[in-house]
Amino acid sequence: MTKKLNVGLIGCGFMGKVHSNAYLKLNKFFDVEHEMVMKCICDSNAEKLKTFAEKWGWESTETDWRKMIARDDIDLVDVCTPNNTHHDIVIAAAQAGKIIALEKPLSMDAEDGVPMVEAVEKSGKPNMVWFNYRRVPAAALAKQIIDEGRIGRVFHYRAKYLQDYTISPDVPQGGDALWRLDAKVAGSGVTGDLLAHSIDMATWFIGPIESVCAMTETFIKERVMQGKDKKMPVTIDDACAFLARFENGALGTFESTRYACGRKNQNTFEVNGEKGSVAFDLETAHELEYFDHSDPVSVRGWRTIQTWDSKHPYMKNWWVPGCGIGYEHWHINTLADFVKGLDTGEKTCPDLKDALATQYACDAVLTSAKNKAWETIKKP
Ligand SMILES: NC(=O)c1ccc[n+]([C@@H]2O[C@H](COP(=O)([O-])OP(=O)(O)OC[C@H]3O[C@@H](n4cnc5c(N)ncnc54)[C@H](O)[C@@H]3O)[C@@H](O)[C@H]2O)c1
Repeated sequence: MTKKLNVGLIGCGFMGKVHSNAYLKLNKFFDVEHEMVMKCICDSNAEKLKTFAEKWGWESTETDWRKMIARDDIDLVDVCTPNNTHHDIVIAAAQAGKIIALEKPLSMDAEDGVPMVEAVEKSGKPNMVWFNYRRVPAAALAKQIIDEGRIGRVFHYRAKYLQDYTISPDVPQGGDALWRLDAKVAGSGVTGDLLAHSIDMATWFIGPIESVCAMTETFIKERVMQGKDKKMPVTIDDACAFLARFENGALGTFESTRYACGRKNQNTFEVNGEKGSVAFDLETAHELEYFDHSDPVSVRGWRTIQTWDSKHPYMKNWWVPGCGIGYEHWHINTLADFVKGLDTGEKTCPDLKDALATQYACDAVLTSAKNKAWETIKKP
């Protein structure tokens, strides 16, 4: 390790914690040339910021992200704030010549995202978006199996992303974490928050989606807005389902809701090809289901691969075979790939332009649902 990388992270909520942990652990588990330096943590909530900085060992604090970005001692800006702040922060960070790591989704919508991509492309600095589920070993193994041609031509892609935390009408909207229920802050509901992950995964596996036909629903029409203490209309999509045609001819179905009682964070995919299939469920995240149609008929069947051998993606960096990894590690894996890319100059993670393609897909889904018609997806 020769090069120090001074990190400035904005937002000490859920993702701020997950990413702080990643910066703390990266050099302990991955041999990369860059050494992570937790230089500055920023949050507009000064009280929360102080406690967070002490707990995680950040060297300094700022309550104004503009001040942090203006500092010469910050190399990488990591954006872990609500979606309506991504545009201004990314453009300022790009103009200041910083490396950028941005939480998903890219932006409120594609219109909001286009100038962000222009700014990072103008700066020429490495940038990435934390679509961390790509770095679950079982998902990365599915990608390898598909790329090796083991399932052959793909006919079907099937994805679900289900939660249940808004099922009670008493859940308010607005404020920490619950800004997701307010379209002015989140951009959209499950489409941008959850299906963006599913779309990113699908397009990583089998290529771009060409067109979509969607339906959305908002089941609970009014909720108390935190801070205003009165009921206000709910403006997000609570649930969304859409049909997709991929450019390579495959057909897809995608479904997401926060009203699937009992499902806390179920994120699934199944890909069916001419020679086999792969299937994954985040609720059993270390397992990949694989069906090989070329097996002899007498023993042909779905096999469950426990992805905790050192031969599986990322696993040689962790524990001995049989000891699994979880949520925190997928983010460390993501950071490891990005930093290896900084070492070698190669792009290793979805960048902001890739995330703009996903954003265009999300926009098309919402437009299709509104117009009750098929919608062609624009390209970045
Ligand atoms: N990759 C994933 O799986 C994943 C999971 C959760 C969240 N996210 C994304 O991460 C981002 C943050 O989500 P979260 O769940 O951590 O939110 P959160 O509400 O838990 O935390 C957001 C933090 O940002 C701070 N903040 C808000 N506005 C600010 C500003 N202008 N300047 C400085 N600080 C500000 C808040 O005080 C809060 O501490 C969102 O874009 C979200 O979509 C991604």
